[in-house]
Parts: sequence; C-alpha cells; structure tokens
Amino acid sequence: MRQGKLVAFPTETVYGLGADATNDKAVAGIYALKGRPTFNPLIAHVTGPDMAGRYVEVTPLAQKLMDAFWPGPLTLVLKRRKDCPVSLLASAGLETLAVRCPKNKVAQDLIATADLPIVAPSANTSGQISPTTADHVKNDFGDRCPFVLDDGPCPVGVESTILLATQNPPVLLRYGGLAIEEIETVIGPVIRPNSDPTTPQSPGQMKSHYAPKTPLRMNATSADEGEALLGFGPAPEAVLNLSPRGDLTEAAANLFAMMHQLDNGRWKGIAVMPIPLRGLGYAINDRLKRASYKKDE
Ligand code: TXA
Ligand code: MG
Repeated sequence: MRQGKLVAFPTETVYGLGADATNDKAVAGIYALKGRPTFNPLIAHVTGPDMAGRYVEVTPLAQKLMDAFWPGPLTLVLKRRKDCPVSLLASAGLETLAVRCPKNKVAQDLIATADLPIVAPSANTSGQISPTTADHVKNDFGDRCPFVLDDGPCPVGVESTILLATQNPPVLLRYGGLAIEEIETVIGPVIRPNSDPTTPQSPGQMKSHYAPKTPLRMNATSADEGEALLGFGPAPEAVLNLSPRGDLTEAAANLFAMMHQLDNGRWKGIAVMPIPLRGLGYAINDRLKRASYKKDE
C-alpha cells in the first residue's frame, strides 16, 4: 500500500478497494480499476476521531457522532483542513472530505500498520453489486487486483450511512448501515432533503447502481414465469429469502450476496418482495431501487 498499490480489504459494511489517500497516482488507480467517473468522491478510512482530526475540521456535532457511533457504519463529510494531505482527486475537487472509521479488526490493523489514511470505495466495478465477500471481489477484478484480504462475509452488508456534518443539524446524504432513527436518538432530527429514499443526494450518485445483470423488480408479491422470488418474511415459494423472520438487519447483511447468487444467468428476472420502510429498510429499498433502474426508462 505504501508503494501505491491497491489492496482490497474487509469492513463491517462491504469490501473496500483501498489506496493510500495521500498518493494521487494510487487514488487515480482506484478510479481506473473501478471504471468510475472521476467526479464521484471517495471516503477516507481512519482509525478513529484523532486521526480524522488530522485531515478534517471536526465540528462539535461531528465529535458527538464519532463518540457515539465510531467505529461503525457512519461516514461524516467535513471540511478539509488547510494542511490536509489527502489527494484532491479523492475529494473530487470539493472542499470537503468524507471520513469513516470501520468496525473491522483487519481494516483497523491495515490503516494503523500502513500508518496512512486509506481511501476506499466498494471493491467492485462501477455500477455492479457491492461485494460482501472476498470471492465477490476476486470474481469481479481477477488478476487486476492481486491483493485481497479475506475476513469472511461482511456482517452489516450495506454501505455506511453518510451525513454532511459541516452544519447543524446535519444532512443525510445516503441511507446506509446505521439506521437514521438511531442517529436521531443521539443528536435529534437530521435533515432528509427528500423523504423518498430512492432519490440520490451525494454528488455523483448515479441512479443505476448496484445493478445485477438480471432485471430486478421491487415490491413483488409473487414471481412471474422464469423469475426468481427473493423473499422477505414468510415465503415458502421464495428461491432465496433475505430474512424469513422479517428482520431488517439480517436482510441488509444478505442483500448483496443474494443478489449476486440470483444473478447467475439462470433467471429471466429477480422479483423482490416488499421491504418495510423503517430502520435499515430505507437503505435496502434505496439499493433495490438503484438495482431495478433501467437506463431506457
Ligand atoms: O460502507 C462504505 O461506506 C464503503 C466501505 C468500503 O467503507 N464505502 C463506500 O464507498 O461505499 P463508495 O465510494 O462506494 O461511496 C462513497 C459515497 C459516494 O456516493 C460519494 O458521492 C459520497 O460517498 N461522498 C464521498 N465524499 C463526499 C463528499 N466530500 N461530499 C459528499 N459526498 C461524498
Ligand atoms: Mg459503491
């Protein structure tokens, strides 16, 4: 990593494709490997609030959020410090930088041992389903990413929740692995610019994202001919079930792995049963909406 090479590593949310955040060439390598439009900024991963404070201006609100939820699936967008050594390419030219402290020992050890802030998007080709196992990463990148640290499946399974915390109250930029209700119990109301969880807010968040090759539709009550039913709650006819007992945390953890499994070319479509809009249900519906978006629609 110190030599500017890319290393895929586990986090509690999804596998990340990591690079030295202070090395422009290494950061550019991420965009190249992912085939990602360069206007989409990256998250810098750190070992904790102290390390974050070297790169961004930690507001009192941000400090409170870090104290409550780090390490964990919460990313904070804050103002870059004047002396911030993180590549401007990683911020895509913005005056802000997203920072996150992952709750995974391998990730923590990697950042601490490299002694570098590590920028890491999800370790998948742009537009593809996010990887929740090391095999997902290897199947996608193959020899193009020779370094993959394997720590088994990711327990959370959807990406981190993102808050713009330069202002108080903060603005929700992405629904994710930390439920917004949980955040609000600590800091009060968070601004949700649009109550529709399917509307993209982060710069560069494209409508079609997390897309399996097989067409996917939401809120299905049953499967049509040739379709695989992806269940939630009791559903004996489901090919796979995100959570037979209707648990949203379990469903989030299974989401990307099950989408990968059903996207095997054997099915004409993937029909997903309704997921309730509460807790992690917001993040799950957001990812499903993107996965079901068709460019010609
Ligand atoms: O759980 C996660 O967050 C995973 C793991 C690997 O940590 N990472 C991840 O990164 O999901 P990525 O690159 O797939 O998504 C980062 C999101 C993008 O939608 C981007 O627009 C937003 O964060 N973002 C990054 N920096 C930002 C900034 N300065 N202002 C606003 N949004 C930002
Ligand atoms: Mg991603």
